[in-house]
Amino acid sequence: MQTYRLGRTGPDVSAVGLGCMGMSGMYGPSDRAESIATIHGALDAGVNLLDTGDFYGMGHNEMLIGEALKGRKREGAVISVKFGGLRDPVGGWNGFDGRPVAVKNFLSYTLQRLGVDYIDIYRPARLDPNVPIEDTVGAIADMVKAGYVRHIGLSEVGADTIRRAAAVAPIVDLQIEYSLISRGIEEKILPTTRELGISITAYGVLSRGLISGHWQKGRSATAGDFRAYSPRFQEGNIEQNLVLVEKLREIAEAKSVSVAQIAIAWVAAKGKDIVPIIGARRRDRLTEALGSRAVNLSPEDFEAIERAVPKDAAAGGRYPEHMLQHMDSEK
Ligand SMILES: NC(=O)c1ccc[n+]([C@@H]2O[C@H](COP(=O)([O-])OP(=O)(O)OC[C@H]3O[C@@H](n4cnc5c(N)ncnc54)[C@H](OP(=O)(O)O)[C@@H]3O)[C@@H](O)[C@H]2O)c1
Repeated sequence: MQTYRLGRTGPDVSAVGLGCMGMSGMYGPSDRAESIATIHGALDAGVNLLDTGDFYGMGHNEMLIGEALKGRKREGAVISVKFGGLRDPVGGWNGFDGRPVAVKNFLSYTLQRLGVDYIDIYRPARLDPNVPIEDTVGAIADMVKAGYVRHIGLSEVGADTIRRAAAVAPIVDLQIEYSLISRGIEEKILPTTRELGISITAYGVLSRGLISGHWQKGRSATAGDFRAYSPRFQEGNIEQNLVLVEKLREIAEAKSVSVAQIAIAWVAAKGKDIVPIIGARRRDRLTEALGSRAVNLSPEDFEAIERAVPKDAAAGGRYPEHMLQHMDSEK
C-alpha cells in the first residue's frame, strides 16, 4: 500500500485509512467478531491508519481497537483519536469540552482503553466555543512533549481556527467530510490547509453509505443509526440523491468497477494531501474499498463524474441543521 506523509512532520499513513466508528453503533448494530476481522484485514492489507473517537460507543470503539491490536506490533498502526464529545447514558450528545484539564483527562482514559502508551494523532472532535483553540492545542502540545501523543490533528474546523491552531504547534491533518456530494471544503478550507502544509483525512467519502451504490430507498435505519436523522436519507431527499447514484453507476459499470470505488477514487485523486478514511465494518466492504486503489481516473472520467454529480447537487444537508449550526467548519 502506498503511503503518504501527513502534514510536514508526519506520520506516514496508508493511502486509505479505516474509520472504525460504524463498529460501535453509530450505524445501528454491528458484529464484534466481524469488526475485529475487518481491522485485522485492513492491517494485513497495509492499511495502518485507524480512526476512532473516545465517544464512539462511549469507549466501546477504543476497547475494540485495543483488542484487535493485541499481539501486534504497536508501530504497525497509526491510531487517530478524537476527543471532547460529551455523551449521556442513552447516547445523547451534550456538547464538547476542549479545556486543557479535560484534554489530559480524556487522554488518560483513552490510553487505558486502547492499551497503548501513546496516541499517534490526537484531535478535538469539534471546536469548544467556550475555549480558545490555542488553549486546547496547547494542552495537546504539552502531551506531545510528555510523550503521550505523537502528532496533533483537527476536526471539522474552519480556516481561521486552522490558522490559529497552526500558530501554536505543528498540525498534521484536518479530518473533515469530503466527497462528491460534500464539497464545501474546496472554497476556503482546502486552500488554507494547502498553504499551511496540513493534510486532509477525508471522512464521509461514501456519504455514510448513501453514494456507495448499496443503499436503497426503503432500507430502514434503526434507532441510533445516524442515517435515521441525516437529512440526505429522508423521504423527499433520498429519491433525488439516489438518482445521482444511478448516474454514477453508469460510469462505474462502463469501467467495470463499483460505485463505491468510483466515489473513493475521486476523493483520493484530488491530491496526495488527501487521505480517504473509509467506514468499512465488514471484510467484504473493506475489500471493495481497497479495490478503489486500482481505479485510474482520466480527465474524461473526472469530467463525466462531475457532470453526473455536480457540486451542490445533493438534496439535504450533510448533518441536521441544529448540528451544522455548531460546526466551526460551516461558519
Ligand atoms: N471527524 C468527524 O467529525 C467524523 C465524523 C464521522 C466519521 N468520522 C470518521 O470517519 C470514518 C468514516 O466515515 P463514515 O462512517 O461517514 O464513512 P463512509 O465511508 O462515508 O460510510 C460508511 C458506510 O458506508 C457503507 N458502505 C457501503 N459500501 C461500503 C464500502 N465498500 N466500504 C465502506 N463502507 C461502505 C457502510 O454502511 P453499511 O455497513 O450499513 O452498509 C458504512 O457503514 C468513521 O468511521 C469515523 O472514524 C469522523
